Amino acid sequence: MTQDVYINERVRASAASLQSALEAHMRTVFAPDARKTLRPFSAGEVADLLGISTSFLRKLHFDGKLPEVETSAGGRRQYTAADITAIRHALESTAKTPGTYLPGRRDGDRVQALAFLNFKGGSGKTTSTVHTAQRFALKGYRVLCVDVDPQASLTTLFGFQPEVDFYDSGSVYDALRYEDPVPLSAVIQKTFFTGIDLAPGGLMLQEFEHETPRALIDNIQPPFFSRMAAVLEEVEADYDVILFDCPPQLGYLTMSALCAATSVVITIVPNMLDVASMAQFLQMSADLLDVVADAGAEMKFDFMRFLINRYEPADGPQQQVVSFLRTLFPDDVMISTLLKSTAISDAGLTQQTLYEVERAQFNRQTYDRAVASLNAVNDELEALMQQAWRR
Ligand SMILES: Nc1ncnc2c1ncn2[C@@H]1O[C@H](COP(=O)(O)OP(=O)(O)OP(=O)(O)O)[C@@H](O)[C@H]1O
Ligand SMILES: [Mg+2]
Repeated sequence: MTQDVYINERVRASAASLQSALEAHMRTVFAPDARKTLRPFSAGEVADLLGISTSFLRKLHFDGKLPEVETSAGGRRQYTAADITAIRHALESTAKTPGTYLPGRRDGDRVQALAFLNFKGGSGKTTSTVHTAQRFALKGYRVLCVDVDPQASLTTLFGFQPEVDFYDSGSVYDALRYEDPVPLSAVIQKTFFTGIDLAPGGLMLQEFEHETPRALIDNIQPPFFSRMAAVLEEVEADYDVILFDCPPQLGYLTMSALCAATSVVITIVPNMLDVASMAQFLQMSADLLDVVADAGAEMKFDFMRFLINRYEPADGPQQQVVSFLRTLFPDDVMISTLLKSTAISDAGLTQQTLYEVERAQFNRQTYDRAVASLNAVNDELEALMQQAWRR
């Protein structure tokens, strides 16, 4: 005897058990009704971020030139991210070259808006977005993350529960929607990570995909491709950098972010299937960009780069794919690659980044290699951004 399977009921039942299991998981990860907090940083880490030596940092404290910070039980100085910002301001006021400690944009520089995209799921868009945001914030930039993905993984990584916190309101959708949009400032959240604000994602963003065809027929202004840029205008003076985490599809949301972007990073996993799918992605993007450019969108990018992610340098076939890409796009493939690392995926299991976790929780060598690779990628992006500002 066979049992009838009603797919809708099965799906609903699975959804319910998954939801409650996830909530339980979140409670253990961030117990009890927890919001995330950021760990303190050591003197070594701070000196590194400031680009000075630890002995110079110690001397600055000794000379009373810096705001004092807490010390650990072992008597070592511990710096919060807010302490690092305060130190940047203190040092910048006496720096010989402006921008040494506060490297963000100056009068006349346009805000850098960097979109991480690829329609390949799991290529590392969210991972790159969050690590870049955090590294930039620690380097003294004022960062706004915009979660353009209805899946809202980026929002989750900042310790929110989009399916609860932004279930029917509070996401970027509220600002993008065609009917009664709110100013973006009404949805922007401060995050636990000093220097990063978040315009949250959430399932409601999917509505933008559904509503846009109708809005185009009704000629509602601004059209989808300029809506993101339009809502950002209100807040962009508050930031040096805006980072978009795009969904794995080339829909209206992605196009809207792309048209608001000043630069693009396409994350790519080096295997032939992914490269083939990226070729399709590029072709489709080019066609769509032609259409929106004809419709009047301004598309002047400062840079476009391919970021190789999940790279395993010892893997022969991967190496071949990477050199194939580098030969094909000598100027466009980022020099630094993001290594495949269990440290990155393990940190991800507890919704953390490698900049949040303590080194002691990991195998040292694994952690150091992964952090070095992340830093190299982010520092290369920082240099590109500085170049765009002609520095
Ligand atoms: N370099 C890496 N090493 C190990 N794991 C990684 C690496 N990059 C990403 N991951 C893991 O792979 C998974 C997918 O990454 P991520 O969510 O960043 O991809 P995505 O492109 O944003 O996916 P989606 O298209 O679904 O939005 C995550 O679990 C992440 O922790
Ligand atoms: Mg993602």
